[in-house]
Amino acid sequence: MTKSPAGSLTVVGLGPGHPEQVTPEAAAAVAAAGDFFGYFPYLDRLSLRADQRRHASDNREELARAKAALDMAATGGKVCIVSGGDPGVFAMAAAVCEAIEEGPPSWRDVDLSVVPGVTAMLAVAAKAGAPLGHDFCAISLSTNLKPWSIIEKRITAAAEAGFVMSFYNPVSRARPHQLGEAFDLLRRYLPGSVPVIFGRAAGRPDECIRIVSLAEAASDMADMATCIIVGSTDTRLIERAGKKTLVYSPRSYKGGSA
Ligand SMILES: C[S@@+](CC[C@H](N)C(=O)[O-])C[C@H]1O[C@@H](n2cnc3c(N)ncnc32)[C@H](O)[C@@H]1O
Repeated sequence: MTKSPAGSLTVVGLGPGHPEQVTPEAAAAVAAAGDFFGYFPYLDRLSLRADQRRHASDNREELARAKAALDMAATGGKVCIVSGGDPGVFAMAAAVCEAIEEGPPSWRDVDLSVVPGVTAMLAVAAKAGAPLGHDFCAISLSTNLKPWSIIEKRITAAAEAGFVMSFYNPVSRARPHQLGEAFDLLRRYLPGSVPVIFGRAAGRPDECIRIVSLAEAASDMADMATCIIVGSTDTRLIERAGKKTLVYSPRSYKGGSA
């Protein structure tokens, strides 16, 4: 029996939601594929041709989605999985790698490529000025895939080390309390004056960017479409008459060598 030729699987990042933040590389990857797997709101962002097929699934079915896409690609399909933002940031590229690691040898023959996208924290940061201008980290607050004790440990370590933090997956109906606990934890290590940016639906028509102090920050200021940037003690505000306040983290520290 002859082995069927392996096809291709492209994992594409569609950016935060603004059509102009879809890269030309992502648009070309979409044009080249025949079958599309993804969470349905991301598939809804595509204008597919009559010869292109969509296979929508729910948010929590990432591994099953990756396996179904690899199965189709392994038998010769030109398959695409779409993610919001960047596919490597808390998204489908890692699910695909996990499936390949655990799956049948034929999945390793698939021609795999990952096409980057503008991740949420970059879209939010750009709206506020330059809060990620110096060292920063990104933490998912979701406990679907890791325990809360690890999240607390990472938030504490990041606050003590002076990192600006971006929080993804800040709250959900099943996890209404954790963001408040994260702010309480941060207030033990950082002054209440530290700026906090709530960036909701960045790049979409319902975008909302709100800047408050850590002392004021509360969990009901966020939902699952929000990415939160918590400044460091060096992050500052620049007020401008008639224009939006800028938030920025300076690139240099006193004592840094030239
Ligand atoms: C499962 S993660 C996926 C992240 C995505 N891969 C990325 O790179 O932006 C979903 C989280 O990303 C953040 N997010 C995604 N799109 C966003 C947007 N347009 N504005 C603000 N936050 C967004 C929210 O924190 C949301 O809960």
